[in-house]
Amino acid sequence: MPASMALPSLIMLSCIALLQFPAMTESQQTGITRHYQFDIQMKNVTRLCETKSIVTVNGQFPGPKIEAREGDRLVIRVVNHVPYNLSLHWHGIRQLFSAWADGPAYITQCPIQSGHSYVYNFTIVGQRGTLWWHAHISWLRATVYGPLVILPKTGVPYPFAKPYKEVPLIFGQWFKADTETVISQALQIGAGPNVSDAHTINGLPGPLYNCSAKDTFKLKVKPGKTYLLRIINAALNDELFFSIANHSLTVVDVDAVYVKPFTTETLLITPGQTTNVLLTAHAEYPGANFFMKARPYSTGRPGTYDNTTVAGILEYENPYSFPPSSFNKNLPLFEPMLPSMNETSFATNYTDKLKSLANAQYPANVPQTIDRHFFFTVGLGAKPCPKNKTCQGPNGTMFSASVNNVSFVLPKTALLQSHYTGKSNGVYTSDFPIMPLIQFNYTGIPPNNTFVTTGTKVSVIPFNTSVELVLQGTSIFGVESHPFHLHGFNFFVVGRGFGNYNPDKDSSGFNLVDPVERNTVGVPAGGWVAIHFLADNPGVWFMHCHLEAHTSWGLKMAWLVLDGSLPNQKLPPPPSDLPKC
Ligand code: C2O
Repeated sequence: MPASMALPSLIMLSCIALLQFPAMTESQQTGITRHYQFDIQMKNVTRLCETKSIVTVNGQFPGPKIEAREGDRLVIRVVNHVPYNLSLHWHGIRQLFSAWADGPAYITQCPIQSGHSYVYNFTIVGQRGTLWWHAHISWLRATVYGPLVILPKTGVPYPFAKPYKEVPLIFGQWFKADTETVISQALQIGAGPNVSDAHTINGLPGPLYNCSAKDTFKLKVKPGKTYLLRIINAALNDELFFSIANHSLTVVDVDAVYVKPFTTETLLITPGQTTNVLLTAHAEYPGANFFMKARPYSTGRPGTYDNTTVAGILEYENPYSFPPSSFNKNLPLFEPMLPSMNETSFATNYTDKLKSLANAQYPANVPQTIDRHFFFTVGLGAKPCPKNKTCQGPNGTMFSASVNNVSFVLPKTALLQSHYTGKSNGVYTSDFPIMPLIQFNYTGIPPNNTFVTTGTKVSVIPFNTSVELVLQGTSIFGVESHPFHLHGFNFFVVGRGFGNYNPDKDSSGFNLVDPVERNTVGVPAGGWVAIHFLADNPGVWFMHCHLEAHTSWGLKMAWLVLDGSLPNQKLPPPPSDLPKC
Protein backbone atom coordinates (compact mmCIF):
# COMPACT_ATOMS: atom_id res chain seq x y z
CA MET A 1 0.00 0.00 0.00
CA PRO A 2 1.48 3.41 -0.90
CA ALA A 3 2.26 5.61 2.10
CA SER A 4 -0.18 8.28 0.96
CA MET A 5 -3.02 5.78 1.27
CA ALA A 6 -1.91 4.14 4.48
CA LEU A 7 -2.33 7.20 6.66
CA PRO A 8 -6.01 8.01 6.05
CA SER A 9 -7.02 4.36 6.32
CA LEU A 10 -5.12 3.97 9.57
CA ILE A 11 -6.85 7.02 10.96
CA MET A 12 -10.18 5.63 9.85
CA LEU A 13 -9.39 2.30 11.48
CA SER A 14 -8.42 3.91 14.73
CA CYS A 15 -11.59 5.98 14.74
CA ILE A 16 -13.63 2.81 14.42
CA ALA A 17 -11.49 1.25 17.10
CA LEU A 18 -12.02 4.17 19.43
CA LEU A 19 -15.75 3.94 19.00
CA GLN A 20 -15.87 0.26 19.81
CA PHE A 21 -13.03 -0.33 22.22
CA PRO A 22 -11.87 2.94 23.74
CA ALA A 23 -8.77 1.36 25.28
CA MET A 24 -7.34 -0.12 22.08
CA THR A 25 -4.83 1.41 19.68
CA GLU A 26 -4.65 0.64 16.00
CA SER A 27 -1.68 -1.69 16.47
CA GLN A 28 -4.06 -4.04 18.27
CA GLN A 29 -6.52 -4.06 15.41
CA THR A 30 -4.28 -5.83 12.95
CA GLY A 31 -1.57 -8.27 13.78
CA ILE A 32 2.04 -8.54 12.80
CA THR A 33 3.76 -10.90 10.38
CA ARG A 34 5.86 -13.64 11.91
CA HIS A 35 8.44 -15.55 9.90
CA TYR A 36 9.55 -19.12 10.50
CA GLN A 37 12.08 -21.26 8.68
CA PHE A 38 11.33 -24.98 8.73
CA ASP A 39 14.18 -27.12 7.42
CA ILE A 40 13.03 -30.70 6.99
CA GLN A 41 15.99 -32.83 8.04
CA MET A 42 16.79 -36.41 8.96
CA LYS A 43 18.00 -36.86 12.52
CA ASN A 44 19.11 -39.84 14.60
CA VAL A 45 16.98 -40.18 17.72
CA THR A 46 17.28 -42.82 20.44
CA ARG A 47 14.32 -44.08 22.44
CA LEU A 48 13.88 -47.36 24.33
CA CYS A 49 17.60 -48.06 23.74
CA GLU A 50 17.26 -48.11 19.96
CA THR A 51 18.38 -45.44 17.54
CA LYS A 52 16.68 -44.66 14.28
CA SER A 53 16.78 -41.95 11.70
CA ILE A 54 13.61 -39.86 11.68
CA VAL A 55 12.23 -36.97 9.68
CA THR A 56 12.25 -33.74 11.71
CA VAL A 57 11.83 -30.01 11.43
CA ASN A 58 15.13 -28.24 12.17
CA GLY A 59 16.46 -31.44 13.77
CA GLN A 60 13.96 -31.14 16.63
CA PHE A 61 11.68 -33.86 17.95
CA PRO A 62 8.94 -32.95 18.68
CA GLY A 63 9.17 -30.05 16.28
CA PRO A 64 9.49 -26.35 17.11
CA LYS A 65 6.65 -24.42 18.68
CA ILE A 66 5.00 -21.78 16.55
CA GLU A 67 3.66 -18.88 18.57
CA ALA A 68 1.50 -16.08 17.25
CA ARG A 69 -1.39 -13.86 18.23
CA GLU A 70 -4.88 -13.83 16.85
CA GLY A 71 -4.82 -11.58 13.79
CA ASP A 72 -1.14 -12.27 12.96
CA ARG A 73 0.11 -13.44 9.62
CA LEU A 74 2.38 -16.50 9.59
CA VAL A 75 4.93 -16.93 6.83
CA ILE A 76 6.58 -20.33 7.16
CA ARG A 77 9.24 -21.27 4.67
CA VAL A 78 9.56 -25.04 4.42
CA VAL A 79 12.68 -26.44 2.78
CA ASN A 80 12.71 -30.18 2.14
CA HIS A 81 16.17 -31.72 2.65
CA VAL A 82 14.97 -35.32 3.13
CA PRO A 83 14.44 -38.11 0.58
CA TYR A 84 10.65 -38.06 1.13
CA ASN A 85 8.22 -35.72 -0.60
CA LEU A 86 6.03 -34.05 1.97
CA SER A 87 3.68 -31.25 2.91
CA LEU A 88 2.78 -29.64 6.23
CA HIS A 89 -0.69 -28.94 7.60
CA TRP A 90 -1.62 -26.31 10.20
CA HIS A 91 -4.21 -28.40 11.95
CA GLY A 92 -7.29 -26.41 12.96
CA ILE A 93 -6.30 -23.13 11.32
CA ARG A 94 -9.36 -21.88 9.44
CA GLN A 95 -7.35 -20.81 6.38
CA LEU A 96 -10.06 -18.30 5.43
CA PHE A 97 -9.49 -17.58 1.74
CA SER A 98 -6.06 -19.21 1.96
CA ALA A 99 -6.79 -22.84 1.03
CA TRP A 100 -3.44 -22.98 -0.82
CA ALA A 101 -1.71 -22.94 2.57
CA ASP A 102 -3.73 -25.75 4.16
CA GLY A 103 -1.28 -28.49 3.27
CA PRO A 104 -2.82 -31.97 2.85
CA ALA A 105 -0.86 -33.64 0.04
CA TYR A 106 -2.82 -34.16 -3.18
CA ILE A 107 -5.77 -32.19 -1.78
CA THR A 108 -4.65 -28.54 -1.62
CA GLN A 109 -1.13 -28.98 -2.96
CA CYS A 110 1.29 -31.40 -4.49
CA PRO A 111 3.92 -32.51 -1.99
CA ILE A 112 7.13 -30.50 -1.70
CA GLN A 113 9.66 -32.60 -3.60
CA SER A 114 12.96 -33.48 -2.05
CA GLY A 115 15.27 -30.48 -2.53
CA HIS A 116 12.40 -28.04 -3.06
CA SER A 117 10.64 -25.51 -0.86
CA TYR A 118 7.27 -23.86 -0.34
CA VAL A 119 6.18 -20.86 1.71
CA TYR A 120 2.99 -21.28 3.72
CA ASN A 121 1.41 -17.86 4.14
CA PHE A 122 -1.80 -17.35 6.10
CA THR A 123 -3.50 -15.11 8.63
CA ILE A 124 -5.03 -16.32 11.88
CA VAL A 125 -8.60 -15.00 11.94
CA GLY A 126 -10.93 -15.29 14.92
CA GLN A 127 -9.04 -18.06 16.70
CA ARG A 128 -7.07 -18.20 19.93
CA GLY A 129 -5.92 -21.22 21.90
CA THR A 130 -3.87 -24.28 21.05
CA LEU A 131 -3.57 -25.88 17.64
CA TRP A 132 -0.72 -27.82 16.11
CA TRP A 133 1.04 -28.57 12.87
CA HIS A 134 2.04 -31.86 11.29
CA ALA A 135 3.23 -33.50 8.10
CA HIS A 136 0.26 -34.42 5.93
CA ILE A 137 1.36 -37.28 3.72
CA SER A 138 1.51 -40.99 4.42
CA TRP A 139 2.65 -41.57 8.02
CA LEU A 140 5.37 -38.91 8.21
CA ARG A 141 3.45 -37.08 10.90
CA ALA A 142 4.66 -39.85 13.25
CA THR A 143 7.67 -37.62 13.96
CA VAL A 144 6.91 -34.37 12.12
CA TYR A 145 4.65 -32.43 14.46
CA GLY A 146 4.68 -29.54 16.91
CA PRO A 147 2.51 -27.05 18.81
CA LEU A 148 0.92 -23.97 17.27
CA VAL A 149 0.03 -21.58 20.07
CA ILE A 150 -2.31 -18.68 19.35
CA LEU A 151 -2.33 -16.03 22.05
CA PRO A 152 -5.20 -13.55 22.26
CA LYS A 153 -4.68 -10.14 20.70
CA THR A 154 -2.48 -7.82 22.76
CA GLY A 155 -4.44 -6.46 25.70
CA VAL A 156 -7.24 -9.02 25.41
CA PRO A 157 -7.34 -11.21 28.52
CA TYR A 158 -8.21 -14.89 28.75
CA PRO A 159 -11.75 -15.51 30.05
CA PHE A 160 -10.05 -17.04 33.13
CA ALA A 161 -7.37 -15.90 35.57
CA LYS A 162 -4.02 -15.42 33.90
CA PRO A 163 -1.94 -18.53 34.50
CA TYR A 164 1.51 -18.26 36.06
CA LYS A 165 3.01 -20.32 33.21
CA GLU A 166 1.94 -22.09 30.02
CA VAL A 167 3.28 -25.52 29.07
CA PRO A 168 2.59 -27.50 25.89
CA LEU A 169 2.01 -31.24 26.42
CA ILE A 170 2.02 -33.08 23.14
CA PHE A 171 1.22 -36.78 23.00
CA GLY A 172 2.72 -39.01 20.34
CA GLN A 173 3.41 -42.62 19.48
CA TRP A 174 6.91 -43.99 19.14
CA PHE A 175 7.68 -46.90 16.83
CA LYS A 176 11.02 -48.67 16.94
CA ALA A 177 10.41 -49.57 13.31
CA ASP A 178 10.41 -47.12 10.44
CA THR A 179 6.82 -45.91 10.19
CA GLU A 180 6.84 -45.56 6.39
CA THR A 181 7.78 -49.24 6.23
CA VAL A 182 5.06 -50.13 8.76
CA ILE A 183 2.29 -48.61 6.69
CA SER A 184 3.54 -49.69 3.28
CA GLN A 185 3.84 -53.33 4.44
CA ALA A 186 0.38 -53.21 5.99
CA LEU A 187 -1.13 -51.86 2.77
CA GLN A 188 0.68 -54.56 0.75
CA ILE A 189 -0.85 -57.45 2.64
CA GLY A 190 -4.10 -55.79 3.68
CA ALA A 191 -3.45 -56.35 7.38
CA GLY A 192 -3.73 -54.02 10.34
CA PRO A 193 -0.43 -52.12 10.70
CA ASN A 194 2.04 -53.10 13.43
CA VAL A 195 1.42 -51.19 16.62
CA SER A 196 3.71 -48.65 18.25
CA ASP A 197 6.15 -49.47 21.03
CA ALA A 198 5.35 -46.53 23.27
CA HIS A 199 3.23 -43.49 23.79
CA THR A 200 5.07 -40.28 24.48
CA ILE A 201 4.65 -36.91 26.20
CA ASN A 202 6.71 -34.24 24.47
CA GLY A 203 8.57 -37.04 22.68
CA LEU A 204 9.41 -38.93 25.91
CA PRO A 205 7.99 -42.39 26.78
CA GLY A 206 8.76 -42.21 30.49
CA PRO A 207 9.84 -44.70 33.15
CA LEU A 208 7.28 -47.48 32.58
CA TYR A 209 9.14 -48.70 29.49
CA ASN A 210 12.40 -50.60 29.40
CA CYS A 211 15.47 -48.43 29.08
CA SER A 212 13.46 -45.24 29.19
CA ALA A 213 13.62 -43.72 32.70
CA LYS A 214 15.98 -41.00 31.53
CA ASP A 215 13.46 -40.05 28.81
CA THR A 216 10.77 -38.85 31.20
CA PHE A 217 8.86 -35.60 30.89
CA LYS A 218 8.97 -33.66 34.15
CA LEU A 219 6.75 -30.74 34.96
CA LYS A 220 8.11 -28.69 37.81
CA VAL A 221 5.63 -26.46 39.60
CA LYS A 222 5.64 -23.95 42.44
CA PRO A 223 3.12 -24.39 45.29
CA GLY A 224 -0.04 -22.34 44.83
CA LYS A 225 0.57 -21.38 41.21
CA THR A 226 -1.77 -22.09 38.29
CA TYR A 227 -0.45 -23.54 35.04
CA LEU A 228 -2.09 -23.65 31.63
CA LEU A 229 -1.37 -27.00 30.01
CA ARG A 230 -1.80 -26.89 26.26
CA ILE A 231 -2.51 -30.56 25.55
CA ILE A 232 -2.31 -31.89 22.01
CA ASN A 233 -2.90 -35.45 20.82
CA ALA A 234 -0.49 -35.97 17.94
CA ALA A 235 -0.56 -39.78 18.27
CA LEU A 236 -1.02 -41.62 14.99
CA ASN A 237 -3.70 -44.08 16.00
CA ASP A 238 -4.70 -43.82 19.64
CA GLU A 239 -7.30 -41.81 21.50
CA LEU A 240 -5.95 -41.23 25.00
CA PHE A 241 -7.13 -40.86 28.56
CA PHE A 242 -4.94 -38.52 30.61
CA SER A 243 -4.82 -37.90 34.32
CA ILE A 244 -2.48 -36.43 36.96
CA ALA A 245 -2.42 -38.03 40.42
CA ASN A 246 -4.11 -35.98 43.18
CA HIS A 247 -4.72 -32.98 40.93
CA SER A 248 -7.85 -31.99 39.11
CA LEU A 249 -7.85 -30.25 35.76
CA THR A 250 -10.12 -27.43 34.65
CA VAL A 251 -10.89 -27.60 30.94
CA VAL A 252 -11.13 -24.08 29.46
CA ASP A 253 -10.62 -24.49 25.74
CA VAL A 254 -10.72 -27.20 23.09
CA ASP A 255 -9.47 -26.92 19.50
CA ALA A 256 -8.74 -23.20 20.04
CA VAL A 257 -12.30 -22.33 21.14
CA TYR A 258 -13.18 -21.39 24.74
CA VAL A 259 -15.58 -23.72 26.53
CA LYS A 260 -17.59 -23.38 29.72
CA PRO A 261 -14.97 -24.35 32.29
CA PHE A 262 -15.44 -27.64 34.11
CA THR A 263 -13.27 -29.68 36.38
CA THR A 264 -12.29 -33.28 35.81
CA GLU A 265 -9.79 -35.80 37.13
CA THR A 266 -9.27 -37.36 33.71
CA LEU A 267 -9.66 -36.15 30.18
CA LEU A 268 -10.11 -37.88 26.86
CA ILE A 269 -8.39 -36.56 23.79
CA THR A 270 -8.48 -38.03 20.29
CA PRO A 271 -5.77 -37.67 17.68
CA GLY A 272 -6.25 -34.23 16.15
CA GLN A 273 -7.83 -32.67 19.20
CA THR A 274 -6.34 -30.14 21.60
CA THR A 275 -7.43 -29.32 25.14
CA ASN A 276 -6.30 -26.43 27.32
CA VAL A 277 -6.54 -27.14 31.03
CA LEU A 278 -5.71 -25.18 34.15
CA LEU A 279 -3.72 -27.05 36.75
CA THR A 280 -3.46 -25.41 40.15
CA ALA A 281 -0.60 -26.68 42.26
CA HIS A 282 -1.38 -27.47 45.89
CA ALA A 283 -0.99 -24.44 48.13
CA GLU A 284 1.56 -26.14 50.37
CA TYR A 285 4.66 -28.08 49.36
CA PRO A 286 3.31 -31.65 49.40
CA GLY A 287 6.56 -33.56 49.90
CA ALA A 288 5.57 -35.97 47.13
CA ASN A 289 5.76 -36.49 43.39
CA PHE A 290 2.80 -37.21 41.15
CA PHE A 291 2.60 -39.35 38.06
CA MET A 292 0.77 -38.00 35.03
CA LYS A 293 -0.26 -40.82 32.73
CA ALA A 294 -1.91 -41.41 29.40
CA ARG A 295 -3.08 -44.62 27.81
CA PRO A 296 -5.53 -45.50 25.03
CA TYR A 297 -9.27 -45.47 24.89
CA SER A 298 -10.05 -48.24 22.45
CA THR A 299 -13.21 -50.10 21.61
CA GLY A 300 -13.64 -53.31 19.70
CA ARG A 301 -10.66 -52.61 17.55
CA PRO A 302 -9.87 -55.43 15.17
CA GLY A 303 -6.42 -56.75 15.85
CA THR A 304 -4.18 -55.31 18.48
CA TYR A 305 -3.26 -51.85 19.60
CA ASP A 306 -0.56 -50.36 21.76
CA ASN A 307 -1.98 -50.74 25.26
CA THR A 308 1.06 -49.29 27.03
CA THR A 309 1.10 -46.27 29.34
CA VAL A 310 3.20 -43.15 29.04
CA ALA A 311 4.09 -41.49 32.32
CA GLY A 312 5.53 -38.11 33.18
CA ILE A 313 6.17 -36.68 36.62
CA LEU A 314 4.73 -33.60 38.28
CA GLU A 315 7.19 -32.41 40.89
CA TYR A 316 7.12 -29.45 43.29
CA GLU A 317 9.89 -27.01 43.94
CA ASN A 318 10.82 -27.52 47.54
CA PRO A 319 10.66 -24.08 49.16
CA TYR A 320 12.41 -25.41 52.27
CA SER A 321 15.65 -26.30 50.54
CA PHE A 322 18.30 -24.01 49.05
CA PRO A 323 18.55 -23.87 46.16
CA PRO A 324 15.00 -25.19 45.55
CA SER A 325 15.65 -28.88 44.95
CA SER A 326 14.87 -30.66 41.74
CA PHE A 327 13.44 -34.16 41.41
CA ASN A 328 13.85 -36.16 44.59
CA LYS A 329 13.09 -39.78 43.89
CA ASN A 330 12.96 -40.65 47.58
CA LEU A 331 9.66 -38.83 47.92
CA PRO A 332 6.44 -40.84 47.70
CA LEU A 333 5.10 -41.07 44.16
CA PHE A 334 1.33 -40.99 43.69
CA GLU A 335 -0.55 -42.76 40.91
CA PRO A 336 -3.51 -41.40 38.96
CA MET A 337 -6.60 -43.54 38.36
CA LEU A 338 -7.32 -43.99 34.66
CA PRO A 339 -10.53 -45.46 33.21
CA SER A 340 -10.19 -48.94 31.79
CA MET A 341 -9.20 -48.90 28.16
CA ASN A 342 -12.63 -49.76 26.74
CA GLU A 343 -14.62 -47.50 29.06
CA THR A 344 -17.08 -45.92 26.64
CA SER A 345 -19.23 -44.67 29.53
CA PHE A 346 -16.37 -42.44 30.65
CA ALA A 347 -15.93 -41.16 27.10
CA THR A 348 -19.63 -40.35 26.88
CA ASN A 349 -19.82 -38.56 30.24
CA TYR A 350 -16.71 -36.56 29.56
CA THR A 351 -17.81 -35.51 26.08
CA ASP A 352 -21.21 -34.45 27.44
CA LYS A 353 -19.50 -31.81 29.59
CA LEU A 354 -18.04 -29.90 26.65
CA LYS A 355 -20.09 -26.79 25.87
CA SER A 356 -19.20 -23.58 24.07
CA LEU A 357 -18.55 -20.62 26.34
CA ALA A 358 -21.24 -18.86 24.27
CA ASN A 359 -21.15 -15.44 25.89
CA ALA A 360 -21.41 -11.96 24.35
CA GLN A 361 -17.69 -11.74 23.66
CA TYR A 362 -17.32 -15.32 22.44
CA PRO A 363 -20.70 -16.23 20.94
CA ALA A 364 -21.53 -19.64 19.52
CA ASN A 365 -22.66 -18.81 15.99
CA VAL A 366 -24.44 -22.10 15.44
CA PRO A 367 -26.14 -22.38 12.03
CA GLN A 368 -29.82 -22.63 12.96
CA THR A 369 -31.44 -23.14 9.57
CA ILE A 370 -29.89 -25.73 7.32
CA ASP A 371 -29.54 -25.52 3.53
CA ARG A 372 -28.11 -28.98 2.92
CA HIS A 373 -28.37 -32.21 4.92
CA PHE A 374 -25.79 -34.98 4.58
CA PHE A 375 -25.72 -38.44 6.12
CA PHE A 376 -22.40 -40.27 5.91
CA THR A 377 -21.62 -43.74 7.18
CA VAL A 378 -18.06 -44.10 8.43
CA GLY A 379 -16.26 -47.31 9.21
CA LEU A 380 -14.24 -50.24 8.07
CA GLY A 381 -14.76 -52.55 5.14
CA ALA A 382 -12.76 -54.83 2.90
CA LYS A 383 -11.26 -55.04 -0.55
CA PRO A 384 -10.78 -58.30 -2.43
CA CYS A 385 -7.32 -59.78 -2.34
CA PRO A 386 -5.60 -59.41 -5.74
CA LYS A 387 -5.13 -62.68 -7.65
CA ASN A 388 -1.90 -64.61 -6.97
CA LYS A 389 -1.51 -62.89 -3.62
CA THR A 390 -2.24 -63.84 -0.06
CA CYS A 391 -3.78 -61.19 2.11
CA GLN A 392 -3.93 -60.91 5.87
CA GLY A 393 -7.05 -58.81 6.29
CA PRO A 394 -10.47 -60.18 7.34
CA ASN A 395 -11.08 -63.69 5.87
CA GLY A 396 -8.11 -63.39 3.55
CA THR A 397 -9.25 -60.04 2.10
CA MET A 398 -7.66 -56.64 2.61
CA PHE A 399 -8.71 -54.09 5.19
CA SER A 400 -10.24 -50.96 3.80
CA ALA A 401 -12.39 -48.13 5.14
CA SER A 402 -14.93 -45.82 3.62
CA VAL A 403 -17.34 -42.93 3.90
CA ASN A 404 -20.73 -43.88 2.40
CA ASN A 405 -18.98 -47.01 1.17
CA VAL A 406 -16.59 -44.95 -0.98
CA SER A 407 -12.99 -45.64 -0.07
CA PHE A 408 -11.23 -42.44 -1.10
CA VAL A 409 -8.30 -42.74 -3.50
CA LEU A 410 -5.81 -39.88 -3.48
CA PRO A 411 -5.35 -38.44 -6.98
CA LYS A 412 -1.96 -38.08 -8.71
CA THR A 413 -2.31 -34.31 -8.73
CA ALA A 414 -3.84 -31.92 -6.21
CA LEU A 415 -7.62 -31.46 -6.20
CA LEU A 416 -7.50 -27.73 -5.52
CA GLN A 417 -5.36 -26.95 -8.59
CA SER A 418 -7.51 -29.18 -10.76
CA HIS A 419 -10.59 -27.34 -9.58
CA TYR A 420 -9.02 -23.90 -9.85
CA THR A 421 -7.73 -24.46 -13.37
CA GLY A 422 -10.93 -26.19 -14.46
CA LYS A 423 -9.10 -29.42 -15.23
CA SER A 424 -10.96 -31.85 -13.04
CA ASN A 425 -11.48 -34.42 -15.81
CA GLY A 426 -9.76 -37.64 -14.84
CA VAL A 427 -8.80 -36.24 -11.43
CA TYR A 428 -12.03 -36.28 -9.44
CA THR A 429 -15.78 -36.53 -9.88
CA SER A 430 -18.40 -34.42 -8.11
CA ASP A 431 -20.77 -37.24 -7.25
CA PHE A 432 -19.96 -37.99 -3.63
CA PRO A 433 -23.23 -39.52 -2.34
CA ILE A 434 -25.22 -37.44 0.16
CA MET A 435 -26.24 -40.68 1.88
CA PRO A 436 -25.29 -44.35 1.56
CA LEU A 437 -26.49 -45.88 -1.71
CA ILE A 438 -27.37 -49.07 0.13
CA GLN A 439 -29.06 -48.73 3.49
CA PHE A 440 -28.68 -51.38 6.17
CA ASN A 441 -28.79 -51.67 9.94
CA TYR A 442 -25.55 -49.72 10.38
CA THR A 443 -24.89 -50.70 13.95
CA GLY A 444 -26.51 -54.13 13.87
CA ILE A 445 -25.36 -57.39 12.30
CA PRO A 446 -23.18 -56.33 9.35
CA PRO A 447 -24.29 -57.11 5.78
CA ASN A 448 -22.82 -60.13 3.99
CA ASN A 449 -21.05 -58.00 1.43
CA THR A 450 -18.54 -55.80 3.18
CA PHE A 451 -16.61 -54.76 0.07
CA VAL A 452 -16.15 -51.04 -0.48
CA THR A 453 -16.16 -49.12 -3.74
CA THR A 454 -13.24 -46.85 -4.56
CA GLY A 455 -13.06 -43.41 -6.10
CA THR A 456 -11.94 -39.80 -5.87
CA LYS A 457 -15.29 -38.15 -5.30
CA VAL A 458 -15.97 -34.74 -3.82
CA SER A 459 -19.12 -33.15 -2.45
CA VAL A 460 -19.73 -29.75 -4.05
CA ILE A 461 -21.46 -27.04 -2.05
CA PRO A 462 -22.11 -23.37 -2.87
CA PHE A 463 -20.47 -20.59 -0.87
CA ASN A 464 -22.18 -19.86 2.46
CA THR A 465 -24.22 -23.07 2.50
CA SER A 466 -25.20 -24.04 6.02
CA VAL A 467 -24.53 -27.73 6.35
CA GLU A 468 -25.81 -30.42 8.65
CA LEU A 469 -23.75 -33.57 8.55
CA VAL A 470 -24.54 -36.74 10.45
CA LEU A 471 -21.62 -39.13 10.75
CA GLN A 472 -22.92 -42.63 11.40
CA GLY A 473 -20.48 -45.25 12.64
CA THR A 474 -20.90 -48.77 11.32
CA SER A 475 -20.34 -52.13 12.99
CA ILE A 476 -18.50 -53.72 10.07
CA PHE A 477 -15.48 -55.50 11.63
CA GLY A 478 -16.38 -54.06 15.01
CA VAL A 479 -17.72 -50.78 16.32
CA GLU A 480 -15.03 -48.23 16.94
CA SER A 481 -14.77 -44.54 17.74
CA HIS A 482 -13.53 -42.47 14.77
CA PRO A 483 -12.09 -39.01 15.43
CA PHE A 484 -13.28 -37.09 12.38
CA HIS A 485 -11.42 -33.95 11.36
CA LEU A 486 -12.68 -31.30 8.96
CA HIS A 487 -10.20 -28.96 7.33
CA GLY A 488 -11.03 -25.29 6.75
CA PHE A 489 -13.88 -25.00 9.24
CA ASN A 490 -14.87 -25.30 12.83
CA PHE A 491 -18.14 -27.10 13.33
CA PHE A 492 -20.66 -27.31 16.15
CA VAL A 493 -21.39 -30.72 17.65
CA VAL A 494 -25.18 -30.40 17.93
CA GLY A 495 -26.05 -34.02 18.75
CA ARG A 496 -24.69 -37.45 19.50
CA GLY A 497 -26.10 -40.85 20.24
CA PHE A 498 -25.71 -44.60 20.08
CA GLY A 499 -27.24 -46.93 17.53
CA ASN A 500 -28.66 -45.72 14.23
CA TYR A 501 -29.45 -42.05 13.75
CA ASN A 502 -33.19 -41.44 13.50
CA PRO A 503 -33.87 -37.98 11.99
CA ASP A 504 -37.46 -37.76 13.25
CA LYS A 505 -36.60 -38.52 16.83
CA ASP A 506 -32.98 -37.37 17.22
CA SER A 507 -32.91 -33.98 15.52
CA SER A 508 -35.42 -32.50 17.94
CA GLY A 509 -32.88 -32.94 20.74
CA PHE A 510 -30.10 -31.00 19.02
CA ASN A 511 -28.32 -28.34 21.05
CA LEU A 512 -28.34 -25.17 18.93
CA VAL A 513 -27.52 -22.88 21.87
CA ASP A 514 -24.11 -23.76 23.27
CA PRO A 515 -22.79 -26.88 21.51
CA VAL A 516 -19.02 -27.34 21.57
CA GLU A 517 -17.24 -25.87 18.57
CA ARG A 518 -14.24 -27.76 17.29
CA ASN A 519 -12.38 -29.21 14.31
CA THR A 520 -12.17 -32.88 15.32
CA VAL A 521 -14.95 -34.93 16.87
CA GLY A 522 -15.14 -38.53 17.98
CA VAL A 523 -17.94 -40.44 16.25
CA PRO A 524 -19.11 -42.61 19.17
CA ALA A 525 -18.34 -46.32 18.90
CA GLY A 526 -21.53 -47.84 17.49
CA GLY A 527 -23.23 -44.46 17.28
CA TRP A 528 -23.51 -41.18 15.43
CA VAL A 529 -22.67 -37.53 15.75
CA ALA A 530 -24.36 -34.53 14.11
CA ILE A 531 -22.46 -31.36 13.24
CA HIS A 532 -23.42 -27.98 11.79
CA PHE A 533 -21.07 -25.70 9.89
CA LEU A 534 -21.26 -22.73 7.57
CA ALA A 535 -19.37 -23.23 4.31
CA ASP A 536 -17.97 -19.69 4.27
CA ASN A 537 -14.53 -20.63 2.96
CA PRO A 538 -14.02 -21.45 -0.72
CA GLY A 539 -11.61 -24.26 -1.53
CA VAL A 540 -11.22 -28.01 -1.38
CA TRP A 541 -11.40 -29.23 2.19
CA PHE A 542 -10.31 -32.63 3.33
CA MET A 543 -12.35 -34.51 5.91
CA HIS A 544 -11.01 -37.69 7.39
CA CYS A 545 -10.62 -39.96 10.34
CA HIS A 546 -7.55 -38.80 12.27
CA LEU A 547 -6.55 -42.39 13.06
CA GLU A 548 -3.82 -42.70 10.48
CA ALA A 549 -4.44 -46.40 9.88
CA HIS A 550 -8.03 -45.63 8.90
CA THR A 551 -7.06 -42.65 6.75
CA SER A 552 -4.61 -44.88 4.90
CA TRP A 553 -7.45 -47.33 4.24
CA GLY A 554 -9.58 -44.62 2.67
CA LEU A 555 -11.66 -43.21 5.55
CA LYS A 556 -11.60 -39.75 4.00
CA MET A 557 -13.37 -37.51 1.48
CA ALA A 558 -13.28 -33.90 0.34
CA TRP A 559 -15.69 -30.99 0.17
CA LEU A 560 -15.47 -28.53 -2.67
CA VAL A 561 -16.80 -25.16 -1.54
CA LEU A 562 -17.42 -22.93 -4.54
CA ASP A 563 -16.58 -19.23 -4.77
CA GLY A 564 -19.31 -16.77 -3.85
CA SER A 565 -20.45 -14.13 -6.33
CA LEU A 566 -18.86 -11.12 -4.60
CA PRO A 567 -15.21 -10.26 -5.18
CA ASN A 568 -14.35 -10.91 -1.53
CA GLN A 569 -15.94 -14.35 -1.66
CA LYS A 570 -13.44 -15.89 -4.03
CA LEU A 571 -10.39 -18.05 -3.51
CA PRO A 572 -7.35 -15.95 -4.49
CA PRO A 573 -4.97 -17.35 -7.13
CA PRO A 574 -2.29 -19.83 -6.02
CA PRO A 575 1.12 -18.61 -4.84
CA SER A 576 3.79 -18.81 -7.53
CA ASP A 577 5.89 -21.35 -5.61
CA LEU A 578 3.04 -23.86 -5.23
CA PRO A 579 4.65 -27.30 -5.67
CA LYS A 580 3.98 -29.27 -8.85
CA CYS A 581 3.25 -32.98 -9.04
CU1 C2O B 1 -4.47 -33.12 11.45
CU2 C2O B 1 -5.97 -33.68 7.68
O1 C2O B 1 -5.16 -33.42 9.58
